[in-house]
Order: sequence, then C-alpha cells, then structure tokens
Amino acid sequence: MERNEGKTAVIILAGGKGERFGYEKPKQFAKIAGRTIIEHTIEKFEEHPLIDEIYVVVNPHYYDLMIEIVKRNQYRKIKKILYGGDTRQVSSRIGVYALEESIRKVLIHDAVRPFIKTNIITNIIKKLDTYSAVDVAIPTSDTIIKVDDKQYIKEIPDRKYLRRGQTPQGFIRDIIYKAHKLAESEGFENAPDDCTLIARYKLGKIYVIDGDELNIKITYPHDVYIADRVFQLNRLSILDFADIANIKNLLRRLEKKVLVIFGGTSGIGKEISNIGEEEKAFVYPFSRKTGVDVRRYDCVNKALQDVYERHGRIDLVINTAGILKISPLTTASIDDIKEQIEVNLLGSMYITKASMPYLKESRGSITLFTSSSYTRGRENYSPYSASKAGVVNFVQAIADEIHDMGIRINAICPERTKTPMRVKNFGMEPEETLLHPKTVAYVTLITALSNITGQIVDVRKTREEKILRDLGLI
Ligand code: CTP
Ligand code: MG
Repeated sequence: MERNEGKTAVIILAGGKGERFGYEKPKQFAKIAGRTIIEHTIEKFEEHPLIDEIYVVVNPHYYDLMIEIVKRNQYRKIKKILYGGDTRQVSSRIGVYALEESIRKVLIHDAVRPFIKTNIITNIIKKLDTYSAVDVAIPTSDTIIKVDDKQYIKEIPDRKYLRRGQTPQGFIRDIIYKAHKLAESEGFENAPDDCTLIARYKLGKIYVIDGDELNIKITYPHDVYIADRVFQLNRLSILDFADIANIKNLLRRLEKKVLVIFGGTSGIGKEISNIGEEEKAFVYPFSRKTGVDVRRYDCVNKALQDVYERHGRIDLVINTAGILKISPLTTASIDDIKEQIEVNLLGSMYITKASMPYLKESRGSITLFTSSSYTRGRENYSPYSASKAGVVNFVQAIADEIHDMGIRINAICPERTKTPMRVKNFGMEPEETLLHPKTVAYVTLITALSNITGQIVDVRKTREEKILRDLGLI
C-alpha cells in the first residue's frame, strides 16, 4: 500500500573530513576489503528492494572522486550528489531540502557505517507506516555515567533505559523537513543526529528499533582493523538475501540448468544432486568414485570439458569434496596433512580456475565449502582448519577478481552435519544436535542461485533447518 503513497529515499552523509581518523582523504574514501567504505555503504541501499532513490551529500573537495565512484559502479539509484556543509546537521539539512516531492519516507545514514544490515533497513521502513520518526539503537554493556566539569560523578542513570544510537534514522519527509526548517531559523547547527531535532521541537514520538553491535561507525584509525575483521568474519543467512516465502519458486529455476557437483556422490553432495534431479536440472556429480580426483587439475578440467561438450553450457559449479583427519600434528602423517590441503584448498582452487571460462559465458556461480573452524583453528585438526580458512580467504579474493566477468563465488559454512565423514571421525553423536545434510544442500542451492558474491553463508539447525522444515522441504 505504502508503495503507491510515495517513494522511499536514503540520504547518505559523506560530508565530513574524518579528522579523528586521520587518513589522507576523508575516511569514507579509505579502502576496506578491496573497496572504499562509501561503496560498501551505498551497495547496501542500492541492493535493497524497498529503497527507490539515493542522495549522497559529499565534502565539496571530493565531489569529483564521488562522481568517479558512482560511474565506475554504475549505480542505478543515485538521484543527486550534493555539496555538504560544515556540520553533520547542515549536511543532513542539505540532503533533506533536496528531496523531491515524490518522496514520503527518508532514511538518513552515516556513510561510515558500512555494516548496516538489510533487515534493519526493512524494519525502519515498515515502522514508518506507524511512526513519523524511527531511531536505531543498541543496549549499552558499559555503565554510562554523567560527570561534571570537575570530573565528579553527577549521576549514574539506570542502564536499563540507556541505548547507544546508530544510523540509519528514518522519517516521514514532511516531519524532518519541518525540523530542519525550525533549526535553521533558530540558528542551531550542532545536533549529533536527526532524531535530536525531532525531540528538540517536539514533532512527534520517536520509535526505537534494535540496532546491531556490528553496525559500527568508523571513527578512529583502529576501527579499520575491526572493520576488516568484521568483513572477514561476517556471515550471512539465507534470511539476509533470499525471499523465504518464495524458496520453492526459486528452486524451480534449477530446471534445465547444468549443475556440476564435485564430491557429488555421497553426503551433502549427493543430497544436492538429488534435489537437482527433482527440479529437473542436468546434474553431473563427480567424485573419486567416478574417477575424478579434485587434487588433479587435469581431471577437474576434463570433467568440466566433457559436460560442456554435451550441453554447450555450465551454470552452477559446487564443490563439496572435503577431507577431515583428526590427529595432533605430532602424530599426523605427512600424507594426511597433504591430502587435506590438496583436497580442501587446492581442489577448490582448481575447480574455480577450470570453471571460469564456462561460467563467464553463462554468468553462473561457484559454491565452495568452509567450516566454522575458519575463524579460529581447532586443536587436533589444524591442517583441516587452515584449509578451511584458506577457502574463505580465496573466495573473498576471487569474488573481486571475477566480479566483472559476471561470475559469483561464495562459501557455505555449515554447523556440524550428519555426513558419513562426520560419523567416521566423531562416532555417534546425539542426532538432534546435528544438521540434516539435506538442509545444507538446500542452502547451497539457494546460495548458488542468488545474486550474492564473496559471502560466507551460515547453516544452522535452529535457524535454516527450522525454516526449511516449516516449508515442508525436510
Ligand atoms: N558528516 C557530514 N558533514 C559534516 C560532518 C560529518 O556529512 N560536515 C558525516 C560524515 O561524513 C559521517 C557522518 O556524518 O559519515 C558521521 O560523522 P563523523 O563520524 O563525525 O565523521 P567526520 O565528521 O568526517 O569525522 P571527524 O568528526 O573525526 O572529523
Ligand atoms: Mg564529525
């Protein structure tokens, strides 16, 4: 309904100098994970289905750089790029005054918060059906104290009612317009955020939704290290990128697709293969059993070549081949160490390299496998952990390399799963604590068909398995 009543825009504030950060350019132009911070931020809104237009307010000295970034990325939603003012509030005002009449809801966001999650954006926009101002905040784990000029404690407010504000903040355009007009006539220019103005002029109730600990504002030099790590460790759920109610329709897109699965004859690979068959894809499962050893580039290459010769295309390549040998390093055999690195890491690299020419043609995707041990190596399976950390690093690097070819690459990170490999290594474990391999198979296919790239996708029993069960798929 609200879609007919006006558009939704976001104002991205990038007018600051980043003095505390102290980089050669304003911090929004510093690079993290291969791209500038502002690119990461803009993309969140560019890709959000409920955002119609993007307004960027930029420091005038960096206007040309901003234009260059917009051109390079071919963003479709950028409506205006505006010169910022001396304070955040003035930059925000410039953005609000520039909004076109057709806009009813507006979000105002700091360019230097690149980790904003899709579901928070959605939540703000929905809440604006009921409220005219919405703030995003998180509880504080530190005790907040109020001091006086002499460094004495004046007050210790009850932590239960304290929150730390983040952005975006959302508003009905008329209301925030009025707030900025009132501030301008009063000569007030130093509000730290936009909700402050709504409160100052008593323009309505401000509803607060839950923010996210990881939605940090990059402020000081050390924040880059934290941000880098957040990028590296950030994982997605299918909830972040797939339309859950429509999963069955999404899976129908497998029909007539050419699907190649390495490690496809047992465990998770076999389940993927079965679903592919059910959905009428052309499925090619390979494994050592079929004479394809992923440790050998020539084998992998030949397998793909054969498929291409038969069908004239390859759409999706998935690698579930993986090996785990439990043993402390002191007693591990050299062969075992080598095999794990070769199968898990080199195999993933060979498959990716050999698939590229075909996937470039079909604008297809590659899906690899990592494990939760990638974030921190696990005792007694160090080569395995290292190989899985390697896969994540590889996916992140390759996603950027092949982006322009239209190929996507991601890795699936399942919790403990009931596979033959797991049972062999860990013996019997309580069934109810293990993921069903079919759950992992569905998440893998949903990821392979989506438009995300460079991501690590989590699979959890309490979340994804529950969703798939509710849909009657498991
Ligand atoms: N901002 C703005 N115009 C200003 C000042 C700030 O658009 N005149 C934007 C910043 O670009 C940033 C957001 O407001 O995205 C939050 O401000 P802050 O973190 O304080 O950024 P800077 O002002 O750039 O940094 P500093 O205060 O360290 O100089
Ligand atoms: Mg500032």
